[in-house]
Amino acid sequence: MSTQTPLKRLTTRDIAAMRRRGEAIAMLTAYDATMAALVDMAGVDMILVGDSLGNVVLGHETTLPVTLDDMIRHAAAVKRGSSRALLVCDMPFGSVTEPAVALSNAVRVMKETGVEAVKLEGGLAMVPTVERLVAHGIAVVAHIGLTPQHVHQMGGYYMHGKDEASAERLRAEARALEAAGAFALVLECVTPALAAEITHMLTIPTIGIGSGQDCAGQVLVINDLIGLNTSPPPSFARPRADVATIIKAAVGDYVDETKASRGPIPLPRRAE
Ligand code: KIV
Repeated sequence: MSTQTPLKRLTTRDIAAMRRRGEAIAMLTAYDATMAALVDMAGVDMILVGDSLGNVVLGHETTLPVTLDDMIRHAAAVKRGSSRALLVCDMPFGSVTEPAVALSNAVRVMKETGVEAVKLEGGLAMVPTVERLVAHGIAVVAHIGLTPQHVHQMGGYYMHGKDEASAERLRAEARALEAAGAFALVLECVTPALAAEITHMLTIPTIGIGSGQDCAGQVLVINDLIGLNTSPPPSFARPRADVATIIKAAVGDYVDETKASRGPIPLPRRAE
């Protein structure tokens, strides 16, 4: 029998306490058990099983084709690989079209994966959905600014909050999502000054991505952090490693070694 005490998993109360103490929250994505174990051991506070799964793992051009079954399979793997970080699973495109649909899909996610929370993209239209999920005991992370599930409606990927109308809409969305019960708010590609202002305005933590340093926490796609990409990462991501080059070198080495390791083996001579 093991004598080691298992590490306690962080809870939404721990995340709220970090915000109260002004302590920065470190969040990363992971999509499988091995990567989840590594980022967990390295000390992240929250792991997001993002629907960026669609781009970085499943090879889709956007996140739109990702299904609820895709998210559940990968979130369950991340749960098996991790033991400390609070886990958040993205609700994919089309899974939160109205509060009742969102509730039954989020219940499936909670039951079948063991994550602690779900994340959903959208502003004021998502307020009744956040209220419904929270009323049924589900912890929710909201997500505004650049919301990749709305890429076609938004007409591309770009910074939000640059003009006063857009800034005012983001402020209103942030206030309404906090009031609806979200326990954290992702701000993606929101101008740094506005992200800082929203962070100071809310008591729940803001988690920024491409939104400057003055958010309560930061999130990044793990592949962008470690250089595990075949195309350049977004401009705001600063890769800390070049894992793609390491993989290509190791595989190239293996291929060369395998081919050089012996002479030809002739085919058996067929009986005439
Ligand atoms: O899907 C994802 O990885 C995300 C983060 C980029 C915030 O939503």
